[in-house]
Amino acid sequence: MSTIHVPVLQDEVVALLAAVRDGLFVDATLGLGGHASAVLAAAPGLRLIGLDRDPRALELARERLEPWSDRVCLVTRPFADLPEVLDELDEERPIAILADLGCSSLQLDSPGRGFSFLADGPLDMRMGASGPTAADLVNNAEEEELMRILWKYGEERRSRAIARAIIERRRHRPLTRTGDLVEVVLGVLGPGRRGRIHPATRTFQAIRIAVNDELGQLERFLEPAAERLAPGGRLAVISFHSLEDRIVKHTLQRLEGRCTCPPDLPVCRCGTRSLVRRLTTKPVRPSEAEMRANPRSRSARLRAAERVEDEP
Ligand SMILES: C[S@@+](CC[C@H](N)C(=O)[O-])C[C@H]1O[C@@H](n2cnc3c(N)ncnc32)[C@H](O)[C@@H]1O
Repeated sequence: MSTIHVPVLQDEVVALLAAVRDGLFVDATLGLGGHASAVLAAAPGLRLIGLDRDPRALELARERLEPWSDRVCLVTRPFADLPEVLDELDEERPIAILADLGCSSLQLDSPGRGFSFLADGPLDMRMGASGPTAADLVNNAEEEELMRILWKYGEERRSRAIARAIIERRRHRPLTRTGDLVEVVLGVLGPGRRGRIHPATRTFQAIRIAVNDELGQLERFLEPAAERLAPGGRLAVISFHSLEDRIVKHTLQRLEGRCTCPPDLPVCRCGTRSLVRRLTTKPVRPSEAEMRANPRSRSARLRAAERVEDEP
């Protein structure tokens, strides 16, 4: 199974998270359990709660994590629900939390999940098993909304023309297959050039982010996760595009909370709380060797922070 999804920056994640003392490790994006199994193998004192919104991923992860089954609890939930999950399970404060964002290769490479512009399949793109699909979105959203999604989440320069072409196309027949969406995009952008990214890359990224509310999930996850960490606990986040990385970077900077009072004030008046200390001021990137061996790691960026002591 290890060939289905190759964990990115695995050694770096293990070095960061297995270094903590014993306690609870939350893998908020368990996927196929690649990172989780490596951390559990390296740190015998850690127990795992593994979250994923994809029930199929959890089934496969359960098999992979069988050797540590007495230390593992798996939950099908989106990671923005982490505080509720910890409360429902009556759990202690985690000592390590990992989020390896985006899709797994299992999702991207299964045409039946509708994530890929390279193989025809139902226009779905949901990581979980419920909620509106990509087809629901492209067949029902207003033109302005489609344009906004393509621009904001895909940074697609021809967002207006593509949104208009989607509206035009669905007037005759709804888009139901990934191939339908690819056809519309190619109709606007042309076939693309050899050696360049596929013309539908940005559109598919944008629709996927919107369908799964990926940035909203991340924004709702980070601060409560840092808040819940036990003092000395570590949060590590791997992102795969600049929209995610920007949120992670700015949130960790804000949670590090540098005091903004004038230097001559004897006591802090601005009320800034310092929740974490950043362990990475620059993101950790995969080595050349990792990028060669696993081209999907190319855009990965790892940022991490450590929880400071609770305020008295
Ligand atoms: C890149 S994969 C993780 C791979 C994993 N680290 C491994 O080594 O096998 C990302 C996983 O996160 C899940 N995911 C993405 N967003 C999520 C969210 N908001 N809540 C829970 N799971 C999410 C996806 O379903 C996918 O299985």
